[in-house]
Amino acid sequence: MTALRCTDIRKAYGGVDVLQGVGFAVSAGEIFGLCGANGAGKTTLMDIIGGQQTHDTGVIELDGRTLVGDVASRAHAGLARTFQRPQVAADLTLRENIALGLAGARLGSVGQLVRGFVAGMLARTTVAIELVETAATDLSLDRLDRRAGDVTFGELRLVELARALLQRPRLIMLDEPFSGVGDNGIEAIVEALRRLRARGCAILLIDHNVDLLTALADRMALLAQGEIVVTGTVAACLADEVFRRIYVGAV
Ligand SMILES: Nc1ncnc2c1ncn2[C@@H]1O[C@H](COP(=O)(O)OP(=O)(O)OP(=O)(O)O)[C@@H](O)[C@H]1O
Ligand SMILES: [Mg+2]
Repeated sequence: MTALRCTDIRKAYGGVDVLQGVGFAVSAGEIFGLCGANGAGKTTLMDIIGGQQTHDTGVIELDGRTLVGDVASRAHAGLARTFQRPQVAADLTLRENIALGLAGARLGSVGQLVRGFVAGMLARTTVAIELVETAATDLSLDRLDRRAGDVTFGELRLVELARALLQRPRLIMLDEPFSGVGDNGIEAIVEALRRLRARGCAILLIDHNVDLLTALADRMALLAQGEIVVTGTVAACLADEVFRRIYVGAV
């Protein structure tokens, strides 16, 4: 069953075409890798799907329904994500930052996060606290009383992922989730994504690391010159001449 479908997505910044008709689909229970050179438009595409950025034309559907509206309404429709630069409130603890996922995830900026925190206060039941602890433990995150501003970049990635998991999403989008994460964290993320997939969640994963994509992704796509130029299983992509020519250094 198709969870996410993007059709003919186009986006220009100040007359510069970044996305020129991107189309792809991700099934429920599938990990779909998205790769491409720096500046190819991967994050822009994710921002458009998430509602953090507008697009010029094209249609996005989640579970067969057109996905429109602001970030909060898309979160309500079942979409969760993490960002290339983790979006956390530095003055809140790890526990509080993760608990924002219980508040409906009005993600998109730290300001929105803090507003979400107020709602999160309402969710401070014993059950909620247990959910937060479990999500953190699953990702090998401990000492949740620490301030987000005092922990490593890699730990912030885990905080963001734990928060996204709490939303029990239909579709989760991860923008380079492994970058800056230590070996233990990488293993924990890989296991968490496999569990999510087994639960039927669709996963869109931006990553440059071909070894990780090979281990994790069911299918992948290469974004270049504003279009998806190669798509298929990871093995098929790695064997594809166009992929090998464009994605220099990956193979
Ligand atoms: N808000 C913006 N305004 C103008 N140009 C932008 C904006 N955001 C991105 N761009 C440009 O759009 C292009 C695509 O950027 P994007 O961040 O989507 O690429 P990316 O594939 O995620 O790259 P990376 O691998 O470095 O993260 C780049 O040329 C970038 O400079
Ligand atoms: Mg990017």
